[in-house]
Amino acid sequence: MISIAKPMISEAEIARVVEVMRSGQLAFGPIVEEFERSLAAYSGYKHAVATTNGTTALHTSMAALGIARGDEVVIPDFTFIATANTPRFVGAKPVFVDVDARSFNVSAEAVRAAITPKTKAIVAVSLYGQAYDVDAILAVAKEKNLKVVSDNAQAIGAKWRDKRNFGEDCAILSFYPTKNATTGEGGAVLTDSDEIAARAREFRNHGQGVQYDYKGFGHNFRMTSLCAAIGIEQLKRVDGFNDARRRNAKQYNELLAPVAAKNKIELPSEDERCYHVYHQYTIKCKRGTHDRDALREFLKQKQIGSGIYYPAPLHSLPTFAARAKTPVTKELCKQVLSLPIHPGLSEEDVRTVATAIKEFFKVK
Ligand SMILES: Cc1ncc(COP(=O)(O)O)c(C=O)c1O
Repeated sequence: MISIAKPMISEAEIARVVEVMRSGQLAFGPIVEEFERSLAAYSGYKHAVATTNGTTALHTSMAALGIARGDEVVIPDFTFIATANTPRFVGAKPVFVDVDARSFNVSAEAVRAAITPKTKAIVAVSLYGQAYDVDAILAVAKEKNLKVVSDNAQAIGAKWRDKRNFGEDCAILSFYPTKNATTGEGGAVLTDSDEIAARAREFRNHGQGVQYDYKGFGHNFRMTSLCAAIGIEQLKRVDGFNDARRRNAKQYNELLAPVAAKNKIELPSEDERCYHVYHQYTIKCKRGTHDRDALREFLKQKQIGSGIYYPAPLHSLPTFAARAKTPVTKELCKQVLSLPIHPGLSEEDVRTVATAIKEFFKVK
């Protein structure tokens, strides 16, 4: 079986976790702070605030930015549901906008068109591991006086113009086991702002400043020492993981070029301003739903995993039942198929997947 994702756990992570278990300090402690320092240094931000997962990091970001009931937050219609739920955690309303068909990322023009007097923030997603158009989104935000959160859950190590720090108000990461680096479950808020970092730290710890001085409202979103121990070791290896993902993507690009040339599929594109870390390698099947779903089934028969991220425009889900005009998203939901790209794949595995796709489309 060639799986769609695989966490890369070595003896180093195992040894660190055992060390923490022996220390007796299992919950928040110095090792979480060590992880935060390593993560801030790796990501190029002044502060990293570790949380229980990416979803709670998104929630924390809203609280830290002061987003509240009655506010609107613009988000892409084509992303994981946690992004869309983000405004709802603080009683605000998500406003769904369309994405660009090539980059899969939120369109700055669509964001601009969705802004109302109630709009307070944009949550822009770096989908599949490639940064959104940071310059364009930050320009709209500056003009309209909006906050920007980067949902970089899928983009650990990704760069925009050679930097992991995109210059927004804050960014969030997820360390779920399928992500480019893992802590089991985990997340973080990254920021250069002392104020946002302080509010995020308080919110993830019951609104507590110094002990038992509850300055504001809060939650328990603290990362455990066990998770941080895994994360410290993963951060030492994440660049190697991302190099392997990029190598696999290059191999797919070469092997699948003849299928793309016959216009059966479209390969993922790289924006030259970005360092794409290929959380997913996502092709578009050009001839509608039937081919995409049939290809997925064909791969399954050959013990090859694949994924559909995402099958429906978020605004159309019953939980939102919102209004939005997002034709690009609607089409992408029928076309996208993500192939195995994780660092555990061998060259032979990538070749096996590409050969199966060629066989399905009858292309040599
Ligand atoms: C774009 C995006 N945002 C947020 C999340 C939420 O992260 P977590 O699963 O760690 O809560 C994910 C994770 O799947 C994601 O892909």
